[in-house]
Amino acid sequence: MAFDAVEIISIKRDRGELSTPQIDWVIDAYTKGEVADEQMSSLAMAILLNGMNRREIADWTQAMIRSGERMDWSALDRPTADKHSTGGVGDKITLPLAPLVAACGAYVPQLSGRGLAHTGGTLDKLESIPGWRANLSNDEMLAVIRASGAVVCAAGTGLAPADKKLYALRDVTGTVESIPLIASSIMSKKIAEGTGSLVLDVKVGSGAFMKTVDNARELATTMVALGTDAGVRTVALLTAMDRPLGLKIGNTLEVEESVEVLAGGGPSDVIELTLHLAREMLAAAGISGKDPEQALKDGSAMDAWRRMITAQGGDPDALLPHAAESMTLTAPTSGVLSRLDAYSVGVAAWRLGAGRARKEDPVSFGAGITLHAKPGDIVREGQPLLTLHTDETARFDRALQSLDGAYEVSAASDPTLLPLVIDRIEA
Ligand code: URA
Repeated sequence: MAFDAVEIISIKRDRGELSTPQIDWVIDAYTKGEVADEQMSSLAMAILLNGMNRREIADWTQAMIRSGERMDWSALDRPTADKHSTGGVGDKITLPLAPLVAACGAYVPQLSGRGLAHTGGTLDKLESIPGWRANLSNDEMLAVIRASGAVVCAAGTGLAPADKKLYALRDVTGTVESIPLIASSIMSKKIAEGTGSLVLDVKVGSGAFMKTVDNARELATTMVALGTDAGVRTVALLTAMDRPLGLKIGNTLEVEESVEVLAGGGPSDVIELTLHLAREMLAAAGISGKDPEQALKDGSAMDAWRRMITAQGGDPDALLPHAAESMTLTAPTSGVLSRLDAYSVGVAAWRLGAGRARKEDPVSFGAGITLHAKPGDIVREGQPLLTLHTDETARFDRALQSLDGAYEVSAASDPTLLPLVIDRIEA
C-alpha cells in the first residue's frame, strides 16, 4: 500500500497514531530513497516531540529489521549472548567482557559502532591495535567466533540499513535523544544480529543520552519488551554515567585499561561492572559452571582476548600509539574529590582528538585523558587529578574550557553520586 509522506508527517505532528501499514511504508520508502531526508528528519522531529506508543515502536523496530538481512548463528553449538551499552565516557567494558564471557562458555557475536559525539566507540578503540580489522564478511565472523568464542566487529551494510540511514540523519538534525527512536535503533540492530540473549547497559547521568533515572528506566523497559517480544532473552541494567567509567578515556588508553582488567588488575568500577554484566549474560544464555571472576584470575579470559585480536588480524603484543603531548591538572585544594562530570570529561577527550567532529574524520588513537582520582577519593592540594594527552598542543585550550568547573574538591563526598548499578529490569 502506498501512502503520502506529508500525510504521515502531519499525523505525527498532530499527535496522532501511525498505523502498521503507514510505518512499514515510510521505513521501506525511506530506505529506497523514495522518502527524502528532509521529510524523514521532519518525521523524526515529530516523533521526538510527540512520542510513539508501544505498538508503534514495535512496528517501527520490525520495519527496520525487515529493511535488511537477519543473521543466523544456529550453526554454532553453544548459546549466543551479547551486551549493548547506550554509550558513555570511558565505557570500554565490551573489550574485557566479550572474551571473558567467551571464556566462560558462551559465544559472543558483538556488532559494534564508532564514537558518537562525546561518547567513544568500541571499533575506534580496537582499531588502535595495529592490524586489527573491524570489517568482516559473515563467513569471517563465523570463523572468528569459532576460533576465539567472541567476535567484535562492524555491522555489515546489509544489517538494518534503514537504521544506518536514519541514525546518520538524526545525528545532524537534533533528533538523537528520543526514547522511541533510540529503542528501535538499538533493538533493530540487536534483533537482526541474531543473538539468543542480550544484556542492555543503559547509562544514566550527564555523560549518557539519558540524564535521569526515570528516562533511563523508560528506555530500558521499552527495549526489554522489544527484545522479549522478538524471542531474545533480554535484561537491562541501569548504570552510573555521572562520572567517567574507569581511569582512562581515549582509544589506546581504554585498550590498555581493558588489558589490565584481563590481566587481573584494573580499576575497581571497571572490574565490578564487567563481572556484573558477565554474570547477567551467562545467566541469560543459560550457562552456569565457570565463574567470570575465576576466568579473570586463571588467564582464560586473557587467552580468549589474544585469540580474538589475532583472528581479526591484530597483534596483541604490539606497542600501541601514544600521544606526543601531555598536560597535568592538579587539585586546587585538599579535601574529597566530590564531583568529576562525565560529560565535560568526555567532551574534553573528544576535543583532544579521541573523537571525531564529522563522521569521515579520523580519530587520534593516543589522545584522551588519564584520571588520577575518582569522586569520593581524598586528594591533597597540588596532587595530579587529570592528565590530558594529545598530538597537537593547540587542542589543549578547548579541552581546558570543557574542564572548567567540571570537578570539585570539597569537605565531604557528594551524597547524590549514583551507585554504579542502579537498577535491573527484565520482562
Ligand atoms: N545507539 C544506537 O545504536 N542508536 C541510538 O539511537 C542511540 C545509541
